[in-house]
Amino acid sequence: MTKKANQSLIDTALVERVQQTFASSYGHAPTHLVQAPGRVNLIGEHTDYNGGFVLPCAINYQTIVASTARKDNLIRIIAVDYDNQTDEFDLSQEIAFQHDRMWPNYIRGVVVGLLSRGWSFAGADLVVSGNIPQGAGLSSSAALEVAIGQTFKELYDLAINGVDIALNAQQAENDFVGCNSGIMDQMISVKGEQGSALMLDCRSLEAQSVAMPNNTAVVIVNSNKKRGLVDSEYNVRRFQCEQSAAFFKVPALRDVTLDMFESKSAELDSVLAKRAHHVITENHRTQLAAELLRQGDLVQMGQLMAESHHSMRYDFEITVPEIDILVEIIKSAIGDRGGVRMTGGGFGGCVVSLIPADLVDAVKGAVEEHYQQQTGLEASIYVCQASGGAGLIQDIPASARL
Ligand code: GLA
Repeated sequence: MTKKANQSLIDTALVERVQQTFASSYGHAPTHLVQAPGRVNLIGEHTDYNGGFVLPCAINYQTIVASTARKDNLIRIIAVDYDNQTDEFDLSQEIAFQHDRMWPNYIRGVVVGLLSRGWSFAGADLVVSGNIPQGAGLSSSAALEVAIGQTFKELYDLAINGVDIALNAQQAENDFVGCNSGIMDQMISVKGEQGSALMLDCRSLEAQSVAMPNNTAVVIVNSNKKRGLVDSEYNVRRFQCEQSAAFFKVPALRDVTLDMFESKSAELDSVLAKRAHHVITENHRTQLAAELLRQGDLVQMGQLMAESHHSMRYDFEITVPEIDILVEIIKSAIGDRGGVRMTGGGFGGCVVSLIPADLVDAVKGAVEEHYQQQTGLEASIYVCQASGGAGLIQDIPASARL
């Protein structure tokens, strides 16, 4: 039995739109509705593919998939957010990468992965939509991949577990789409828990929930700085981390302690040393942060988030001026009562702040007053709640029923 998504955290208008598109396009109501959330990472950046620790939470922005099984081998898809564009392919034929548009590849990649893992199923009619801002570093693509995996599990009663849905989604991203991402985004989209962040060991894939302290707000601010060079720079960072691990003769930077680093770093290429320093210190910060969050200590958590941002800016070199400005504006509004840092892969996108709820208005006010004036860009602000992971949407509210 799949766990039930918390209804209050789902946008009923979105669900209604998906259902209506399904009914008007396929001539009947869907049998299944699945959601998978986006995520925000509180701390632990670029540590996942180094076998390290991350502390993300799922957010109340999701990808929704409505579906019905088919008796033949056809998969038919309608993408509401792409002007109802369609895609269609046959499971019994080779499923090819689409060069002219990207969105079908996330779905095709997941299906290819499931088949290659030995799961068997027939076709499906699908409608997909979501409200996770795209290209903002909030994992809309991982949510789509996880939602599709979860949909086939539900439609065909596949005995696939959550970790395998996440691993299959990551494989789709790595091998089919071509971005060498780690496992964080897919794992949190599967395993998110309402009201909690998740401390995830990206080597063992063990997850521990860390309850958000009472009266704490997670405020995400999108810099709306278009993320440039993301994939290429991401892959370069990953390669640099692998080279650094090889220098220390360990499988991954997770295995390098600060003492080991300090005793040998002078012999390491200076750029590689900076990259390794970020990952080693970030792993340490993330483990400490999980403890501080458990204790509800936002003051010290704020210090760690500041150190994390500093490390991403100067050691890992993945921030951009607009993001640094945004972090400074928000930090000056919250002082030492909470934290703020860039979140996600980098080179633009979002910052996350973790603050007492009574500071939300001050943060919004500071961003509205200063960000556009200093950068020429307008920010978007999302006050989020830590949400549950992927699952069936049941008990659809009356307003969203057909
Ligand atoms: C992207 C990747 C993740 C992770 C982060 C950086 O979101 O998809 O796997 O590496 O960047 O922490």
